[in-house]
Amino acid sequence: MRSFLTELAHVAGKIARQHFRSLGHQATSKKGRNDYVTFVDRNIEETLSVRIKSQYPDHLIVGEETHEAFGDYEGPAWIIDPIDGTTNFVRGIPHFAISIAYCEKNFEPKFSVIYDPMKDELFFAEKNAGVWMNNERIYTSNCKTLEESMIACAAPFRSMDATDDVFAIIKELQPQIDDIRRAGCCALDLAYTAVGRCDAYWELGIWPWDTAAGELMVRCAGGIVTDVRGNEGDLLTRRSIIAAATPELHALLSKACARLQPWLDKAPYTDHLVALQKQA
Ligand code: IPD
Ligand code: CA
Repeated sequence: MRSFLTELAHVAGKIARQHFRSLGHQATSKKGRNDYVTFVDRNIEETLSVRIKSQYPDHLIVGEETHEAFGDYEGPAWIIDPIDGTTNFVRGIPHFAISIAYCEKNFEPKFSVIYDPMKDELFFAEKNAGVWMNNERIYTSNCKTLEESMIACAAPFRSMDATDDVFAIIKELQPQIDDIRRAGCCALDLAYTAVGRCDAYWELGIWPWDTAAGELMVRCAGGIVTDVRGNEGDLLTRRSIIAAATPELHALLSKACARLQPWLDKAPYTDHLVALQKQA
């Protein structure tokens, strides 16, 4: 499975590199406010889906651009973000990634890969085994305090309702921590947390394809991942995430992010993948 995932990541990365900084404006369309998609996202997702289906015809594929109806399916599934960080990609900012998670059953990721094609960095995770960056075994940092922490996050850019709360958290955190990063690629925020470049990452508004590969990676590297309410096993309904290198830092960050909890009961955060499947 490791070599198959690596092959998928490299094939996808090659397509992304071929089209990077050569997209005209016509090549970009909007799915919603500040929600871009390009033919490259679609091309990569289609390429990956065809390869996976030719090897595993019965497996389910949940991709950012197209997802099959899954009802109460519990079998093998692939969760794919063809380009995580599409806004960076269309603007020519070389910080985006291909994110692929394989779940053997119950939508629990067992293997995952995150590939940054511009830096040729490949992060691979296997449940109960570990995480490797370009074949080097990696671990989260040992950061236990806010003072020493570099914390990745996101500013609201699609739904703006929670903006005040998100910026209130950033305002409270910033004087207490080393620094924050809003780099625009959730998968790499998680991979960087797994490898110890960042110590934690939090965001309201994510989807399973943003986080499936990365959350396995952070856990396999020694870190903790939950939503803002502290729930761990909620991949399909996940719309928020707190990932941290250590339980101590996770607890401090969860406390700092507590004001986000009520948002999970409000639209658009009640529109999670399971709810959307029921409406379809
Ligand atoms: C987005 C990026 C961004 C994060 C958003 C994601 P996309 O993914 O990861 O950093 O803040 O929540 O949706 O749309 O570029 O694949
Ligand atoms: Ca994404």
